[in-house]
Amino acid sequence: MKKWLLATILGVLTLALVACGGGSSSSSSEPKSSEDYTADKPFVIKFSHVTAIDSVKGKSADYFAQLVDEKTEGRVKVEVYPSSQLYGDADELDALVSGNVHMIAPSVTKMVKIDPRWQYVDMPYLFKDDEHVKRFFDSEVAQDLFNSEQLAQNDIMGMAFWPNGFKHFSNNKHPLVKPEDFKGLKFRTQAGQVLEAQFEALGAGSATISFGETYAALQQGTVDGAENPFNNFDTMKFYEVQPYLSTTQHGRLDYAIFVNKSYWESMPEDLRVLVEEALAEATEYAQSLAAEENAKSFEKIKELGTVEVYEMSDEEREALREALQPVYDKFTDVITQELIDGITALAE
Ligand code: LMR
Repeated sequence: MKKWLLATILGVLTLALVACGGGSSSSSSEPKSSEDYTADKPFVIKFSHVTAIDSVKGKSADYFAQLVDEKTEGRVKVEVYPSSQLYGDADELDALVSGNVHMIAPSVTKMVKIDPRWQYVDMPYLFKDDEHVKRFFDSEVAQDLFNSEQLAQNDIMGMAFWPNGFKHFSNNKHPLVKPEDFKGLKFRTQAGQVLEAQFEALGAGSATISFGETYAALQQGTVDGAENPFNNFDTMKFYEVQPYLSTTQHGRLDYAIFVNKSYWESMPEDLRVLVEEALAEATEYAQSLAAEENAKSFEKIKELGTVEVYEMSDEEREALREALQPVYDKFTDVITQELIDGITALAE
């Protein structure tokens, strides 16, 4: 009987030890020494995202992984899972909170689940140009979003902002020039009520559909239209199912890099410093890449011959901006006047 008890206790202890120390990634919240990680047994960071490998985000994520590998001599390995391979929009954030992935780079509007102020990015015509966005990323105003209670409570830490670009409306019915042209159409939205209100203000309907399912939804007519930066429109081949694109430039699609805080802190500090250096360099790379890739994609879309591209004038954009004013009336309190004013003040 005693032998049986001893064997059972030993068995349980062995299982517990295997559970804590097994595998090549650290699951313990106790920081180990960096000597414990080698190229054969690296600290693994699972990085999940939803866009294509050749998109702005895809290339930047791969470059980050390569830099981490070089700087840490393989002792930290960033495993990048693109194209919603591991998690789609709906569950990527939950997977980060629960520690099933360790790093994500969502389009910031998807953070609405945790803090509705992240929908600042959807406020129509809030940003003037790419330089305005860059000044915002480098500002205390943006840093405040990272310092929120909501992120801390969810064990998430914000690390960096990466740009993509301005969004433009597309659809499969007719050219979109005037606000009236949107009436009765149905558009795909990423998340949140600001985007719903945007389409409502234009007399259009909307449905939230994950990025990975958007092509099929457009092809099958579940929705008629979408809004994307040129590079996402290109790399997701939306040009095959969206024959009309107008350069409305009405909102932004940008990213923030988040890590699971406990997992991050379980990495030895000297390795963390190297990963942070890699992230800073990858962020610079993303910043130089975004405008370039969007410009290339725009040229490609125009040359394809399958998409009728309507290049909007400033006056036409102004009419759209006025039609979208109700979004501000409805959502300024949610985004907060402070954040909107903070962003507006960085326009010049
Ligand atoms: C979207 O859903 O449209 C975005 O999340 C795509 C992206 O660039 O991440």
